[in-house]
Amino acid sequence: MWTPPERIRHPLLETTWPSSDEARGAALFSSIRIGPVELRHRTWVPAMVPWRATDEGFVTREVLDWYERFARGQPGAIVVEATGIRDIPSGPLLRVGHDRFVPGLRELVETVRVASDGQTRLFIQIIDFLSVKRRPPADKFFRRFLDIRPEHREKLSEVLEDPIWKDASESDLRDRLLRCTDNELDKTLSPRELDDLRYGARERVNDMHLEHIRELPRVLPGIFAEAAARAREAGFDGVELHYAHAYTMASFLSKQNHREDGYGGSREHRIRLPVEVYEAVRQRVGDEYVVGCRILGDEVIEGGSELDDASYFALELGRAGMDYISVSKGGKFEDAKQPAVGWAVYPYTGRSGYECMPTVYSDADGPFGRNVSLAATIKNSLTQAGLSVPVVTSGGIGTFELAERILKNKEADIVAAARQSLADPDWYRKMLMGRGDAVRRCEFTNYCEALDQKHKRVTCKLWDREARGKRRLIAPEWRP
Ligand SMILES: Cc1cc2nc3c(=O)[nH]c(=O)nc-3n(C[C@H](O)[C@H](O)[C@H](O)COP(=O)(O)O)c2cc1C
Ligand code: SF4
Repeated sequence: MWTPPERIRHPLLETTWPSSDEARGAALFSSIRIGPVELRHRTWVPAMVPWRATDEGFVTREVLDWYERFARGQPGAIVVEATGIRDIPSGPLLRVGHDRFVPGLRELVETVRVASDGQTRLFIQIIDFLSVKRRPPADKFFRRFLDIRPEHREKLSEVLEDPIWKDASESDLRDRLLRCTDNELDKTLSPRELDDLRYGARERVNDMHLEHIRELPRVLPGIFAEAAARAREAGFDGVELHYAHAYTMASFLSKQNHREDGYGGSREHRIRLPVEVYEAVRQRVGDEYVVGCRILGDEVIEGGSELDDASYFALELGRAGMDYISVSKGGKFEDAKQPAVGWAVYPYTGRSGYECMPTVYSDADGPFGRNVSLAATIKNSLTQAGLSVPVVTSGGIGTFELAERILKNKEADIVAAARQSLADPDWYRKMLMGRGDAVRRCEFTNYCEALDQKHKRVTCKLWDREARGKRRLIAPEWRP
């Protein structure tokens, strides 16, 4: 992962933990209403993909164990990992794109209900993503994938100062391109072709030459709505529309969305599809069901949307009736590192990825509560407009004091902690019992994220190993 060049190593925040009484009286452990449901506490485990579903996207025993473990800590809410809304293969990622996925998801809901003693509300993040191909070997790219155009002949002749390439056979041309230096290719191929070669072919919402991309605004509201209906049928307390990071809906919100069909360009046009998706979902699930979303407070990419865009989007989504807005940051493809041949580009390897999951190797600002100001500005714009949509913040939060300060300063309404909850799913219970001393504190060095990047089952480096040195798949037991 990219690291700020300053590479200042920040020690974990010194902190004092509350007594049981202090915790019970704290803002963090006060209740809050989200649309039709009440969260018992303002504690929240945001979506985290653990890579434990079957290759067909079904819930497995390991998925159940994973969420059961979080539920035993009794956070106010858990958001189940990004779950695909289409009925297409997507590796070991959960899916909700067909009724056959409902029984497994229902079992997941029941598992969390039992493990949390009915104290934790369960939402599911529903996602659409476009095709991302693995980085191809160069010979495959030049021999099979590259569409030879007259410009290639012109440019190659120019670059190599040899007119022979203007009329060379296609196969000779492909062979010659394969032997070109990077510099020669830079001058011969289009930026998009270079990207396909060096990062793997990746669809964009701007690809209006592709019918299925042109049709996204017609297709997505219905698919999201059906997925949300299945989530409701499975018993989830609500759905979180994934409008953040590197995926389709965030790409519609992005300032890099230049579609000219009324769904790109100006902010007013970029927010159109996210609102239409929300409306379709709302119509399908009714008013008595939580529909929230996750958006980016800042994309952190060149030419991307920034905080003023995000505030505007939040207002429009809030006015439309969104029950909560969870604010994340970055996590984009545009600045991701080049993957090795045979691997797909991973959207959390560049600067925007760092901002999404900041580590202790940071700049002067450090990782702790790094993204709170985005949520605070968004919350402030909502309040100014008379909207009381709860705002969720996340990013480097792993102490009671920091969480409490955010809530007391009214910078957010709910505090999400992904990695801290992974390191110690019991940390909420420990705080409530006045046993903060026993919290296993996340070190924010992203061992877990590196596993995610390799599509390996996510675990935490702080968990001890099981007998025979095997990696644990869930956090160890804690007995007070
Ligand atoms: C292993 C892993 C998987 C994640 N998967 C998702 C996901 O499916 N959807 C999502 O919106 N964010 C995902 N995130 C981002 C987290 O929800 C969270 O925003 C980020 O880790 C910053 O919060 P933290 O500092 O409390 O960890 C993931 C993070 C990790 C570490
Ligand atoms: S692996 Fe590291 S960053 Fe991830 S939860 Fe554990 S301590 Fe935190």
